[in-house]
Amino acid sequence: MTDALSRPNADPTRMHSVTPETTAIIDMVLDYARRRLLDTATPLDKPMPPAELRRLASGSISEDGLGGRRALALFENVLAPACLTIDHPGYLSFIPSAPTKAASAFDLIVSATAVYGGSWMEGSGAVFAENEVLAFLAREFGLPESAGGVVVQGGTIGNLSALVAARDHAARRLADRGAARPDRWVVIASREAHSSIASAARVMDVDVVTVAVDETGALHGDQVRPALEQYGDAVIAVVATGGSTNFGIVDDIASITALNDEFDVWLHVDGAYGLAAALAPSARHRFAGIDRADSLIVDPHKWLFTPFDACVLLYRDPAIARAAHTQHAEYLDTLNDRAEWNPSDYSIQLTRRPRGLPLWFSLAAFGAAAYRDAIEDSLSLAQRIADEIRRRPELRLVRDPQLSVVVFEREGWDVSDYAAWSDRLLDEQRAFVVPSSHAGRPNTRFAIVSPRTSFELLVGILDTMR
Ligand SMILES: Cc1ncc(COP(=O)(O)O)c(C=O)c1O
Repeated sequence: MTDALSRPNADPTRMHSVTPETTAIIDMVLDYARRRLLDTATPLDKPMPPAELRRLASGSISEDGLGGRRALALFENVLAPACLTIDHPGYLSFIPSAPTKAASAFDLIVSATAVYGGSWMEGSGAVFAENEVLAFLAREFGLPESAGGVVVQGGTIGNLSALVAARDHAARRLADRGAARPDRWVVIASREAHSSIASAARVMDVDVVTVAVDETGALHGDQVRPALEQYGDAVIAVVATGGSTNFGIVDDIASITALNDEFDVWLHVDGAYGLAAALAPSARHRFAGIDRADSLIVDPHKWLFTPFDACVLLYRDPAIARAAHTQHAEYLDTLNDRAEWNPSDYSIQLTRRPRGLPLWFSLAAFGAAAYRDAIEDSLSLAQRIADEIRRRPELRLVRDPQLSVVVFEREGWDVSDYAAWSDRLLDEQRAFVVPSSHAGRPNTRFAIVSPRTSFELLVGILDTMR
């Protein structure tokens, strides 16, 4: 270990001051970011084996540093090409991300301005702008004007934070009635609910009761009712999915939220991927009933064209979430004693980057109509390519797409055929389409998010399955 005393002439401000060295680093980094953002032909790239990366990129951290130029060259020439280009039009796996140019560029400003997004005291301007986005989305979903929340890291944290608020609310209500807490709390969700719901339940040490879905994969209120009757006061929340990850299926939210007429239960909608489609006039009807949700999430880094990572978490009554999440400490009381909006009060986190700002900037710059158009484009492309799949005798559509996920099988292919085909597509730098499965049968899926994904590109991929 180097003793500070052994570097008597070291300048501790070297990294923070404006000098020829730091100016050159800023110019190089901004130039690289600019080239990347304006490049229309960035390849898909592919992961590199660990041994290869060790050979090419080990040893970058040293006592004296590589210098900005060499470190950046290492990233540009070795590390970046070992990362998939998620915003490539041929990236069609999992749930892609396709940030707008404005949102990606503005993310640089979020870093450059060193804004803290946890409290109004420290970041009121940023918090105000993020709240404009939250209010816009709350209006789109029909939530009351008093709704509010926070932009968190991702859907997993959003779902966990909402369920923690719901449990806190359930516990307070039982305490108010003088009733005992149940031995085990319960979350009711469908079999098709995202794995983050089970993960949240594990973190919270509560049980998930899974309820069967209909033949289209959607959860209905009728299927939820018996579980509500059975588990009564032990139920923290019912989780409906607004666009399942595997298929993009939207639960029958109206019939689920209508259960509130009979059972006073918290209704959470996990719309991490799909709820963005509520902005599109042609798909809005699929989310009927969402205006009655107690909490919901939608991930801007999925279909609202924002860079990683961002999840909008909204509560019908934010005061409930504040009661559950506000952290108390002597040094924080100065924040908590004020009646101001502190985003940290609404989720599992304290320090936060104002990660809603790139979406705010892009929405403010282009307007909501541009978002509606881009989402409509993915929706109609999904229908067109589903028609094409139906026409091809060697292919079978597993389910009719509702949003922008299209799942299909190739007759006669087993898992290894899908894997070899998928590897070939990536080796040829044509597309990233990984194998998937449903009910034990292998398949593959197109998850379409980028407006740059074309019908011709998808048809070209289908042609490779002949
Ligand atoms: C429906 C749904 N919920 C939750 C998540 C988890 O979101 P994140 O990956 O941002 O944590 C996903 C991710 O794909 C999802 O599709």
